Amino acid sequence: MSADPFRLGWFANLTAPEWKSPYPGNDPKTWFDGSFHIDMVRNLERAGFDFIMLEDSLMVSDIYQGTSEIELKHARYAPKMDPVATAAMLAKATQHIGIIATASTTFYHPYQLARQFATINNLSGGRVGWNVVTSSEDLAAKNYGMDKLPEHDLRYDMAEEFMLAAKALWGSWEEGAILADAESGYYTDFTKVNPVNYEGTYYKTRGPLNLPAGPNGGPVICQAGGSPRGRDFAAQYADVILTIPNEAAGAKAYRADIRRRAESFGRNPDDIKVFSVVYPIVGETMADAQAKNEAWYARKQQNFEVQMAHFGALTEIDFSQFDPDQPIPDDLSTNGHQSQFEIWRKQLGGKTIREGFSGMRVQTTEMVGTPDAIASQMDEFMQEVGGDGFLIYGQPISRQYISEMTDGVAPALQRRGLMRNDYSHKTLLENLHSF
Ligand SMILES: Cc1cc2nc3c(=O)[nH]c(=O)nc-3n(C[C@H](O)[C@H](O)[C@H](O)COP(=O)(O)O)c2cc1C
Repeated sequence: MSADPFRLGWFANLTAPEWKSPYPGNDPKTWFDGSFHIDMVRNLERAGFDFIMLEDSLMVSDIYQGTSEIELKHARYAPKMDPVATAAMLAKATQHIGIIATASTTFYHPYQLARQFATINNLSGGRVGWNVVTSSEDLAAKNYGMDKLPEHDLRYDMAEEFMLAAKALWGSWEEGAILADAESGYYTDFTKVNPVNYEGTYYKTRGPLNLPAGPNGGPVICQAGGSPRGRDFAAQYADVILTIPNEAAGAKAYRADIRRRAESFGRNPDDIKVFSVVYPIVGETMADAQAKNEAWYARKQQNFEVQMAHFGALTEIDFSQFDPDQPIPDDLSTNGHQSQFEIWRKQLGGKTIREGFSGMRVQTTEMVGTPDAIASQMDEFMQEVGGDGFLIYGQPISRQYISEMTDGVAPALQRRGLMRNDYSHKTLLENLHSF
């Protein structure tokens, strides 16, 4: 017995591709012209991925040791290009795949966001998605003239209003408003374009938007809430939900919880697809894959340094202040990525900070092997979870890794009937609802 067909999505940073490996063509400097990411998204489309998700953050962190040295040395968070602007380019370089761009409700205004996503939704023929985040870093807030981020739950209150305002703006052009009728002389039927007069506690916008929202009435909504507040928000508004699962059992529980919450909001849970983050390590033979996996863990000192800085940037905790050979203090907390922090704390158990960071990976489920073996592992995982998909996270990204996934794992899944071969519909939402 095998799982029902499921989906693959791709997690992407708009940062430098792998630049140390001798593998040719990773374009350590020239990726700034977009060509690396265009090649990447075209490969993903050829392989049948549902979407690429462009993550974002809005700062150069100097949390770790009070300097941005480690962050910039390893090119982890910066330089990083803007996902909304890049999404427009990637949309025009492809025809079928979904392009999901991250944008923060804390730093956009609903009108600007609604306008940009309506534009790309039109440009892409309905293939754009918005990954709704509230941001996690005070440093980002400082870049936007604030002293610090609003507190965690308040950010979600604001995001909720933001979403209502944006949706109202996308709804401000009725179906059929564009006439382009030379005979009557009307390009647009003005009776079908209406102000929204949205007024909440945090946002106010008159509307209407100055363009129609495009296919399906606006972008696909993507979210990654882990806290109870975040899960409610996602269950209420999202079409795509991203999660870093705690093994298959955690993914199963998370998906069941989201589906239950969605039903309580009057939604059909089958309209929501939950994607679990995994980072498969692929080799030509099992031994080759195991060796790659071990080589990764063997780079302990570099991992330690990078992960301390990277996770410190996300949580805004300077881990360099603690003795690395002691466990993390019990009373440590964050206003940033709370659920990720808690998963990590649990994984750490009684380990020291050094041990915890040296072996730290974003995902908890190891998938290691030949393309066929990875396909089996995914099948098994999905049988337990019950459905939807995986978000492939391979950072920093290389042409070699892209090819291992698009020319190795995806075809292996397709041979087993576990993944789409092509796109049955034109828009991202329709393709998401197709099975
Ligand atoms: C796969 C994944 C991708 C995410 N991408 C981003 C991102 O690009 N930018 C961002 O600020 N937060 C991102 N987040 C963080 C979430 O938006 C959210 O803030 C985080 O999961 C904490 O949510 P919680 O406070 O509800 O637990 C991501 C989370 C996950 C699991």
